[in-house]
Amino acid sequence: MKIAIMGAMPEEVAPILEKLGDYKTIEYANNKFYETTYKGVELVIAYSKIGKVFSTLTATTMIQHFGADVLLFSGVAGAISPTLKVGDLIVATKLAQHDLDITAFGHPYGFVPEGSVFVEADKRMIELSKEVAKEMGKVVQEGIIATGDQFVANEERKNWIGATFNADALEMEGGSVAVVCNALNVPFFILRAISDAADMDASFSFDTFLETSAIESAEFVLKMVDKLLEKSEN
Ligand code: ADE
Repeated sequence: MKIAIMGAMPEEVAPILEKLGDYKTIEYANNKFYETTYKGVELVIAYSKIGKVFSTLTATTMIQHFGADVLLFSGVAGAISPTLKVGDLIVATKLAQHDLDITAFGHPYGFVPEGSVFVEADKRMIELSKEVAKEMGKVVQEGIIATGDQFVANEERKNWIGATFNADALEMEGGSVAVVCNALNVPFFILRAISDAADMDASFSFDTFLETSAIESAEFVLKMVDKLLEKSEN
């Protein structure tokens, strides 16, 4: 088994690399990929750069070039649900692209022919995340994540995304990573820690909490890796 751990920004993967300590750096497709062996299993780690296009490229590369069999994403998100506060964790049950719009042709937002509005994350890993949360003494909310090539810092836009996709959080990569993993039959898990509320204070809040929230998410994702290994031994 080879596990991919992905983020979008350096701050999102730095805590993971720091914890692992020793790794090999491989440059490929205008990006850096970090490989190591952890508890006898191969890991490939990378940050994609922000947005749907770069995250699509990185997820595809991790699977097709580096041979990842499972993918875990760690990062930060803007909260839509009022129950999510800065530092809280959300596990994606399913993901949509909020900025995909061919409604002019009578299709719903987020839909293109032969696609689907939502892509579901791996149910087994969502179940395992409940065990991890319990063991870590953390509360983890499950919910719908909406993805788009937009940093949302506007209450009206945020509320529209919430209402249209019934979404609890928003970010800029999960939906595209989900499409890649689904198409290539790779189970995936998307975890985000809240950095802001996608409102007029979002950019300030993001800058303030990016690092601490990214650490929250990274610690949990590493425990997910431990849990996957523990379960594959049984
Ligand atoms: N990631 C974290 N906060 C975000 C926001 N407000 N919009 C888009 N992506 C984000």
